Amino acid sequence: MRILVTGGCGFIGSNFIRYILQHYKPAYMTNVDALTYAGNLANLDGVVEEHGERYEFFQADIANADQMDTLLHEEQFYAIINFAAESHVDRSINSPQNFIHTNVVGTSVLLQTPPAGTASSVSSRSRPMKFTVR
Ligand SMILES: NC(=O)c1ccc[n+]([C@@H]2O[C@H](COP(=O)([O-])OP(=O)(O)OC[C@H]3O[C@@H](n4cnc5c(N)ncnc54)[C@H](O)[C@@H]3O)[C@@H](O)[C@H]2O)c1
Repeated sequence: MRILVTGGCGFIGSNFIRYILQHYKPAYMTNVDALTYAGNLANLDGVVEEHGERYEFFQADIANADQMDTLLHEEQFYAIINFAAESHVDRSINSPQNFIHTNVVGTSVLLQTPPAGTASSVSSRSRPMKFTVR
């Protein structure tokens, strides 16, 4: 079972990744993060050393439909957990474009991109679940 986490280098996402890898042994985690001012690779220090191939990282923007389309067709994810966000309220007031880009456009890209395994040719598989956090 592979789970896609977006914004996994932020506060909530990095703790979520650590928790799942530690407590749900069959799970594999893919982290997609644009590494904005809020993202910090150091939040996941030691994860590769501890969990090896169960964790992988891609630097990408969730609002980039081509990148998300490629990723979602390369791997079949059991679930998408969307933590990628402009989470600082003050910044979203001063710079609403960034908020709209990630929280609105990015979320809609994730919702609109059909995950692998949902094409009509793969009718025997159930549709992966999606969760979003706002
Ligand atoms: N921090 C809290 O206490 C809290 C509580 C409840 C809900 N939440 C929600 O959880 C989510 C994450 O919060 P957080 O505190 O971890 O935020 P954060 O600012 O610490 O992390 C956000 C992450 O998203 C990444 N990101 C931003 N734009 C991106 C894009 N376009 N594409 C890919 N990655 C992008 C950043 O690089 C960063 O790593 C938000 O939706 C927030 O509202 C947070």
